Amino acid sequence: MTRVLLVTSSILGEHGQSNDLARQFERQVRQRSDIQLTHRDVVADDLPHLTLPELSSWQVAPEERSEQQRDLALRSDERLDELLAHDVVVLAVPMYNLGMPSQLKAWFDRILRAGKSFKYTENGPVGLIEGKRAILLGARGGQYAGSELDTQTPHIRHLLGLIGISEFEAVYAEGLNMGDEIKEAALTQAHAEIATLVEAL
Ligand SMILES: Cc1cc2nc3c(=O)[nH]c(=O)nc-3n(C[C@H](O)[C@H](O)[C@H](O)COP(=O)(O)O)c2cc1C
Repeated sequence: MTRVLLVTSSILGEHGQSNDLARQFERQVRQRSDIQLTHRDVVADDLPHLTLPELSSWQVAPEERSEQQRDLALRSDERLDELLAHDVVVLAVPMYNLGMPSQLKAWFDRILRAGKSFKYTENGPVGLIEGKRAILLGARGGQYAGSELDTQTPHIRHLLGLIGISEFEAVYAEGLNMGDEIKEAALTQAHAEIATLVEAL
């Protein structure tokens, strides 16, 4: 059984184009009895920004945490445990202001945790998560993939790489705000690529 964690992050709910890519992914997965899917919507999750009290709670041994520190540390503990319980993480990501939605950044801020998901060594950071792969389903109003302006993909790829998830693939639906023809072609191609990708899971 392959366990897949599907993380969605569009603020546009059912109208979100990255959520459309996520739905296509789910449709394909439903045809496979050997894949178990968990859906995590980080917008519905509504995580606040990471702050000093929460960061500090990670530094305190679990048995020595105050009640408030226990609650704060739980935000990271739960999300890390969820990630660890899956083999593949699929991130459905809209491009907002050349980056990822801040809700997804808040999720990454709980996943990247020194001593838990990576460690600092004299040769730099080393990821502690093994045997997982990641897939990005990107929805974008413009066309950026592979260009210097696409700072979103390298950011996400390096965040994942930092914790040890270096097997990374991406499917894009781009040019979604560039007219109906480009939009339809982009979505059709992305749907086909997702179907192929799920077949190979
Ligand atoms: C706040 C906001 C910022 C955006 N910034 C960009 C951008 O920098 N580059 C781009 O190509 N599209 C941008 N877009 C367009 C979105 O990438 C596009 O609408 C895409 O479908 C968003 O994914 P979603 O529909 O899943 O939310 C932006 C849209 C919004 C709402």
